[in-house]
Amino acid sequence: MITNTELEHKGNLTPSKIIGFRKDVDRLYFSTDNDVVLQVTVLRDSVLRFRYTTTGTFTKDFSYAITKYASTGYNHLEIEELKTFYKITTSKLECHISKLNLGVQIYDVLDKRLINQDEIGFHWEESYVHGGNFVKMSKVSNDGESYYGLGDKPSHINLKGKRFENWVTDSYAYGKDSDPIYKSIPFYTGLHHNKAYGIFFDNSFRSFFDFAQERRNVTSFWAMGGEMNYYFIYGPKMTEVVESYTDLTGKPHLLPPMWALGFHQCKWSYYPEKKVKSIANNFRKLKIPCDAIYLDIDYMDGFRCFTWNKDYFPDPKRMVKELLDDGFKTVAIIDPGIKIDKEYSVFREALENDYFCKRADGPYMKGKVWPGECYFPDFTNPKVRDWWAGLFQELIEDIGVKGVWNDMNEPAVMEVPNKTFPDDVRHEYDGNRCSHRKAHNVYGMQMARATYQGLKKFAYPKRPFVITRAAYSGTQRYTSTWTGDNVATWEHLWIANVQAQRLAMSGFSFAGSDIGGFAEQPQGELFTRWVQLGIFHPFFRVHSSGDHGDQEPWAFGKNVTDVVRKFIEIRYQLLPYLYTTFWNYVEDGTPILKSLVLYDQEDVHTHYRTDEFVFGNQILVCPILEPNAKGRRMYVPNGNWYSFWDDSIIEGGLELWVDADIEEMPIYIKEGAVIPKYPIQQYVGEKKIETVTLEVYYKEGKEVSQLYDDAHDGYDYTKGRYSLRTFKLTGKPNELIIQQHKEGKFDAEYGNFEIKLHGLPFEIEEIQVDNVVIPVKELIKNGNSEMTIDKEFSQLHLIGKTE
Ligand code: GLC
Repeated sequence: MITNTELEHKGNLTPSKIIGFRKDVDRLYFSTDNDVVLQVTVLRDSVLRFRYTTTGTFTKDFSYAITKYASTGYNHLEIEELKTFYKITTSKLECHISKLNLGVQIYDVLDKRLINQDEIGFHWEESYVHGGNFVKMSKVSNDGESYYGLGDKPSHINLKGKRFENWVTDSYAYGKDSDPIYKSIPFYTGLHHNKAYGIFFDNSFRSFFDFAQERRNVTSFWAMGGEMNYYFIYGPKMTEVVESYTDLTGKPHLLPPMWALGFHQCKWSYYPEKKVKSIANNFRKLKIPCDAIYLDIDYMDGFRCFTWNKDYFPDPKRMVKELLDDGFKTVAIIDPGIKIDKEYSVFREALENDYFCKRADGPYMKGKVWPGECYFPDFTNPKVRDWWAGLFQELIEDIGVKGVWNDMNEPAVMEVPNKTFPDDVRHEYDGNRCSHRKAHNVYGMQMARATYQGLKKFAYPKRPFVITRAAYSGTQRYTSTWTGDNVATWEHLWIANVQAQRLAMSGFSFAGSDIGGFAEQPQGELFTRWVQLGIFHPFFRVHSSGDHGDQEPWAFGKNVTDVVRKFIEIRYQLLPYLYTTFWNYVEDGTPILKSLVLYDQEDVHTHYRTDEFVFGNQILVCPILEPNAKGRRMYVPNGNWYSFWDDSIIEGGLELWVDADIEEMPIYIKEGAVIPKYPIQQYVGEKKIETVTLEVYYKEGKEVSQLYDDAHDGYDYTKGRYSLRTFKLTGKPNELIIQQHKEGKFDAEYGNFEIKLHGLPFEIEEIQVDNVVIPVKELIKNGNSEMTIDKEFSQLHLIGKTE
């Protein structure tokens, strides 16, 4: 193993003097006296791409991360040559490139504040063993500068003072600060002077990031091969940085079916059929909502993907249908390792068509996984992806499985020291043939992509649902994810919270952890606290290894069952809120979970907060992470917040103690919010929704809320059959006005909104709906706080009694 301390500084530091400049539309080339060429591409006013070569020419440009749908175009571009530097100006940025040493400085064009600058800047070290270079970049790190992002790192939200590695790794029972683990997302956001910028180092080789750890005033990143190729993304708001990064690497292509946002129950493994059925029945019997049940590797025949163990599951199609009739969608696992077995058709087809990965000198890449010795499809070959997608026909179209869970796709190999393929394995890399050094970090992503392709085709006209363990930047386009094999400890509850937030600020919102812990068994209290957090994670699944007992909501006694049920019910009530938030993510790349720094970067107190986060835009959550706790201290961001439990109001901008015995957790609603809620259902679509509740939290002032809706599955929404309702709330001491604006062609089944008012400071004397006065007695129920009105109202106006 190379120690990276050696790597950071070493290298070719000879400054490169600019001797030539060329412009090709929005591409600028700066060539130097030592064959280094810098190519700067202006993608948007706030996005610049920097590429460096040391040979005078660039190799073919190819990336799995960047989407063809990324927004491009700028309002302004000007290039000037000055005495000591070139100046590139857009409507957001001013970038200086030094003629003396190619150093880059980037300023906010408006207030001329320096946002980011090279320290040594680009440098490199030739690789004798592999050819090419180890490519390196160093930047100045400012006092007070903070760093966020990098995917699934199980460390403090603020990355300052730490060093990380990106190399996708199967990490059973990883712990706090374990590194690297399952994902490689080489993107971070830096924040100082209230301005946020992002750096996406699009290089799939093993890479490293040092956030002012080795040297106090330097942040650097480097990779073991490939090109120095990074995108600079300006905010100045952190949400804008994350949105731009997500736009560049892709928002999910489709909304998930709404059921995928329900509760999922999983275990390694539920078998035979009788067991699966009894688990499902118990959910219904105990009235605990659940939408999906998982089949882990034991459903297969000898762990051969796309087969069934007919002793355990004699008639999978019937079983899947019966489960579905009861509201359960079946999700099945599919791993990349294909058992070496001449009698097995999937193996034979791949062998005949030359779809398996090979070692440098020709033999197949052979490795042990669950089925024993396996070969592995090369998912970086488009032909292999098409073939793989086709394999799902029976499972999805015929048997009716609704989702696929891709695991072990780092790729994980057992009984070898490096837990994966050796470096020399060859890959197609979509026509850019290379070794595993370059393809390793994208292998799992390409597998999930091929799986997604298969589901999209065979689940049609329903929406696909995929879950993956391994990922590289851009994987969020195709699939959801979980955080791998965690452990049933309180520390892992902390880790799960950090990882879901961090993934969200790294463009990957559809994420969750194995609730309760995969390895070992939680006590009822830990399980309960984990479910409480889990209801706020976009992917909401209980999973465990099954080695240490049961982990269903009823496995810990009645008290736990009751509290867990109550929280899962809250999740189901909040589905329209979550669905709207998800739609925002798919539309604009807005993260579903917002760490406090993302929510309010102006408040420096948020820069080091880790536990609290905002779910969507208006629900503040803080999990309880300690045993025996009756509450905790938490930081409440600026603004006024209503307690979800008793409507008491707290003024934010401070840390305070909050009571939260085991039946509660700290949940607050932003004042002015209009939160849509569904009635409790045992699964999505169980009930015809007759009314949607709007929980209205009075505010003196204004606040905007939204409600997105569509058919909850299928593609009609992509053709305009959706509805987006915007609620503008205006509160005055003696009045409350809610104006509704609707767009889109979808008409939901329900006819009415049930309005529930919170914190109204006056007694209602007059009500006007669309300027028509309605007698108060006719409308108001429950004292002063509830009423039912037609969902198409344009304006609801409540006027209070005057003294
Ligand atoms: C891996 C997965 C885990 C799964 C197990 C068996 O450990 O991470 O979720 O249950 O393999 O398939």
